[in-house]
Amino acid sequence: MNEKKGIAVLASGRGSNFEALARACLDEEYPAVIRALIVDGGEAGAIAIADSFGIERVAVECGAKKGSMTPESSERMAKICAERGVELVCLAGFMRIVGGALMAEYRGRMLNIHPALLPGFKGLHAQEQALAYGVRYSGCTVHFVDEGVDTGPIIIQRVVPVLDGDTVESLSDRILQEEHQAYPEAVRLWAEGRLRIEGRRVRIREKA
Ligand code: GAR
Repeated sequence: MNEKKGIAVLASGRGSNFEALARACLDEEYPAVIRALIVDGGEAGAIAIADSFGIERVAVECGAKKGSMTPESSERMAKICAERGVELVCLAGFMRIVGGALMAEYRGRMLNIHPALLPGFKGLHAQEQALAYGVRYSGCTVHFVDEGVDTGPIIIQRVVPVLDGDTVESLSDRILQEEHQAYPEAVRLWAEGRLRIEGRRVRIREKA
């Protein structure tokens, strides 16, 4: 196999998507390896997961303003990634809009996962939004990151039916199961060089 691609995962919370990626990377045949977990605070559950997998973790103070990050913190993250040979940045429950140096350096090489079928229900509390709207199907989306909130070109979507008795928790749980499949799959496609962005569309090349 060709050299594995180095990735960094950015997380703010529980870290179950980070864990799904870390598990995928344990497979010798998987084409990527996690070089670092970067968190925006000391609270993230993802930190304990990094420790259990022996993955380096770094906390970067991103500023008091919710949902955004300071230019300095973006620069620091870009430097952390560059120093570790990171080729792909994966946002996994990272609750800040990425701008600045990190965005400039990793445009087209940064992915995000969102718990809805985009372009519906962007932003916070996507599962709650879906239930409140009354959709019959929700799911998850892995997409490239651009300057907007949950707006970049879509790589993978997985559909989850909404059931009559669903609560936010039950729907979120079922979507999360799909997220844990979709994210490692999208990272694999990227690492194998099989994704090409054409405007808003992402072409997936068949495996050779
Ligand atoms: C996941 O459901 C992820 O899709 C969502 O946050 C959760 C993080 O869970 N992300 C967003 O809503 C981004 N807009 P995790 O920390 O267990 O991976």
